[in-house]
Amino acid sequence: MEEERENDLTGTLAMAVFTAALGSLQFGYSLGVINAPQTVSDATHTHAGQHPSVVIYWSLSVAIFSIGGMLSSFLVGFVADLRGRVKGMLMINVLSVAAGLMMGLCNMWKPHIMVIAGRALMGFYCGLTSGLVPMYIGEIAPKAYRGALGALHQLAIVVGILLSQVVGLDFVLGNENMWPLLLGLSGAPAVLQTFLLPLCPESPRYLYILLGKEQEARRSLLRLKGAYDPTPDLEEMKREKDEADKEPRISILSLICSSVYRQQLFVALMMHLSQQFSGINAIFYYSTAIFGRAGVSQPVYATIGVGVINTVFTLVSVALVDKTGRRTLTLVGLAGMCCCAIAMTVGLKFLNDYSWMSYVSMAAIFLFVSFFEIGPGPIPWFIVAELFSQGPRPAAIALAGCCNWTSNFIIGMTFPYIQAWLDCYVFILFAGLLLVFTVFIYFRVPETKGKSFEEIAAVFQKGRKVPKDNTELQHPFLPKKVIIMR
Ligand code: GLC
Repeated sequence: MEEERENDLTGTLAMAVFTAALGSLQFGYSLGVINAPQTVSDATHTHAGQHPSVVIYWSLSVAIFSIGGMLSSFLVGFVADLRGRVKGMLMINVLSVAAGLMMGLCNMWKPHIMVIAGRALMGFYCGLTSGLVPMYIGEIAPKAYRGALGALHQLAIVVGILLSQVVGLDFVLGNENMWPLLLGLSGAPAVLQTFLLPLCPESPRYLYILLGKEQEARRSLLRLKGAYDPTPDLEEMKREKDEADKEPRISILSLICSSVYRQQLFVALMMHLSQQFSGINAIFYYSTAIFGRAGVSQPVYATIGVGVINTVFTLVSVALVDKTGRRTLTLVGLAGMCCCAIAMTVGLKFLNDYSWMSYVSMAAIFLFVSFFEIGPGPIPWFIVAELFSQGPRPAAIALAGCCNWTSNFIIGMTFPYIQAWLDCYVFILFAGLLLVFTVFIYFRVPETKGKSFEEIAAVFQKGRKVPKDNTELQHPFLPKKVIIMR
C-alpha cells in the first residue's frame, strides 16, 4: 500500500514539474525562433532594401546565443547550490525577462545591438535552465517515474520549437513588422514561472544532503509524494550525506581530475556528444533548405511537420522510457538514425535521376527525427542526474551542459561549410558518427531504469580499477568490502 502511495503522482509533484519545464519551453522557443527571422532578414533585405549587413547581424545573434549558453552552463552548479534549485530558477528569470524586453522593444534604440545583446542574455539564461531543470526534476521524481518526468524537459523543448515555428510563420509574427514581438515573446514563460515557483517544494535532496535540514526535507517529501512513510528515502539520503560529508566539495576541476567518477563522466559526455553529433540540429537549422533541395514545393510547412513529428515521438518516449529503459531506447534511436542518414544520402544522390527519390528523402528526414526523439533526444538531458550522486551531480551537469552547448555551436557554425564540401554525401558523415555512438552505448552504458542512485554508482564501480596506492577519494556508494576484495 505504502509502495503504491509512494509511486502516486501528486498534484504538487505535477505542478512542480510543469513549473520547472516552463524554463525548458523557453529554451526550445529560443532555439527554434531563429529560423523565422532568417526569412525576415531576407525579406527586409530584398523588399525594404535594407543594408545587407542585417544578414550578418542575424548570424551573429544565432552564434551569440550558443556562446551565452556555453559560458553559463559552467555556472549551473554554483546557482543550484547557492540558494537551492527553486530559488536558483527564480533568480535567473531576471535574465530571461530582461532579454525578452530588450528584443521586444528593440525598435526603441539600435535594433541590431538590442537583438544581439538580448540573444546573448537569453543564451546565458538557457544555459542555466538546461541544467537546473533536469537537476530539479531528477531530484524530486519518484524512482518509478524518473525517466518519464525527466523526458518532460525535452518535451517542453520540442513544444517550444514547434510553437516558435508556428508563430514564426509570415502571416503570424514572422514578418517585417512583428518580428520584435516574435523574439520578445521568448521571455514570456518566465513571467508565469516566477509566480508558480514560490509554490514549488525545494528538492529534498538539496535540503537534507547539502543543508542538513532533515525536517524540511521530510516536509518537502510529504508534499511531493503525498501521505507515505518517508523513512526509507530519508535513510538513503542520510547514507549519501554521511559519505558526502567526509569528502571535500566536488568542483568541476576536481571532477575532471578524479578517476573515481571518470567512467560516469565519460558516459555522460558521450551521451551529450551523441545527441548533438547525430546531426539533429543540421536538420532543424537547415530543414527548410534541405526540404527545398529534396524537391518539396512548400518547405516551410514540411519544417512544421518535422516539429509535429518531433513532439509526437517525444511523447512516445515519455510513455516508454520507464518501461523499456534508457539504454534500449537510445540504442534503437541511434541505430535507426544511422539507417535514415544512409537513406537520406541515397535520396539526395539520385534525386535528379528518379523523381520519387524526393519521397525517400522526406520519409528519411521524418524518421530520423522520430528515432531521435524516442531516445537520443530526451535521455542525455536527464541521465546525467541519474549517473551521479549528490556531491558531484551539479559539477557533472555543468560539464555535460557545456559539452552539449559547445557541440551544438560547432554543428550550427560548420554545417553549411561541410554541406558545401561533401554535397549530397553530407549525411554519410553523420551515419558514421551514429554508428560509433551506437557501438559505444552498447558496450559502455548500463541501464539506470528503476535503480536507486546507490545502485547506479555501484554498477560503475564494478568495472573500475582501484589504484595501488589507494590515495584517491573513495566513491560515496562503493561498499567497503568491494575494495577489500580487490
Ligand atoms: C535536444 C537538443 C537540441 C535540439 C532538440 C531538438 O533538446 O539538445 O539541441 O535542437 O533536441 O528536438
